[in-house]
Amino acid sequence: MSGQHSEPTDDRQVLAVNDLAKYFPVRKGFWKRAAGQVYAVDGIDLQVNAGETLALVGESGSGKTTLGRMIVRAIEPTRGQVMLNTGESGWTDLTALRGGQLRAARRHFQMIFQDPHSSLDPRMTVLDIVKEPLVHNKLARGDEAVERVRQTLEMVGLGSQHLHRYPHAFSGGQRQRIGIARSLVSNPRLIVCDEAVSALDVSIQAQILNLLKDLQSQLGMAYLFIAHDLAVVEHLSHRVAVMYLGRIVELADTDELFTAPRHPYTEALLSAAPVPDPGLKRERIVLHGEVASPSDPPRGCHFHPRCRYATALCGQETPQWRQVAPERYVACHHADALSLVGLANRNAEKPATIP
Ligand SMILES: Nc1ncnc2c1ncn2[C@@H]1O[C@H](COP(=O)(O)OP(=O)(O)OP(=O)(O)O)[C@@H](O)[C@H]1O
Ligand SMILES: [Mg+2]
Repeated sequence: MSGQHSEPTDDRQVLAVNDLAKYFPVRKGFWKRAAGQVYAVDGIDLQVNAGETLALVGESGSGKTTLGRMIVRAIEPTRGQVMLNTGESGWTDLTALRGGQLRAARRHFQMIFQDPHSSLDPRMTVLDIVKEPLVHNKLARGDEAVERVRQTLEMVGLGSQHLHRYPHAFSGGQRQRIGIARSLVSNPRLIVCDEAVSALDVSIQAQILNLLKDLQSQLGMAYLFIAHDLAVVEHLSHRVAVMYLGRIVELADTDELFTAPRHPYTEALLSAAPVPDPGLKRERIVLHGEVASPSDPPRGCHFHPRCRYATALCGQETPQWRQVAPERYVACHHADALSLVGLANRNAEKPATIP
């Protein structure tokens, strides 16, 4: 996958990931001998522009969380590079930073987690939770730090009366606001949101999504937004990357991806998304077979055993990650021949065929 690769000298970008991979060892038996590997993330190139929301979608187990956690250096990659544009001091190779240098860089990138219950330390007050990145990164102390916490809480819709309370005193939506405040307080350039609203009630989801959107227009940070729910992604993100079994298979502007997908897996994902108007009929593409195991991915195109357009070639050769239009990338041998069904042509009944 190198078609999209470019040297990270483009200052409109905030993140550039080059050939990033994570293989987990599989251990078996009493002696826990290494018995193979899980190819959780298998060579990804990806760029995030400053101030944009890039969504990362794909089925469970496709490697989204592993990719997000490597970007924020919560886990070490097996290979590859994570470059961050810190603004004032230019590009930094995060994968090469250790100790104090890494701590200093952490203010520029943060993560919001799925579960607001387990991601906040129950023994810390809201003040201490939100203040932590400021203290840790030596950005502010004493009264100044408290004032920054107060201002940040206000931005997420919480008041000073909440400062000295503990997380258990808050609802799920409020806890997620506390998590957002903690990620914002150091004024980062990039926030990785891993299923940030999936654990919340639908009505609360909308509030939190609107909050994230408003904060982005005020403060200008970029989001890498990991999600299952395509409806969420459609309204929040500028671009979408679709992941399957450790690889990105398609990347496009949100509108284009939803109206005219270029990868059969994207088409299948869209066909499973709910249609807002019940009067409209759309064929639901049933994917046959389970997602293959990332410890034994299929040869050639990882998706070919479940793909209704697959030919012999697909089982033999890994498709190149290539640019098919401005700002559009896809890894499919037949991307040029297929005309796939997006959300706009909801009445389409016939599957596309390879001429
Ligand atoms: N620490 C680990 N040790 C071994 N295997 C792991 C580890 N973490 C993740 N995996 C495996 O790596 C693959 C990718 O997992 P990951 O959690 O990144 O997927 P995901 O796309 O985030 O899934 P979900 O949508 O369910 O959150 C899975 O097969 C998972 O079992
Ligand atoms: Mg995950």
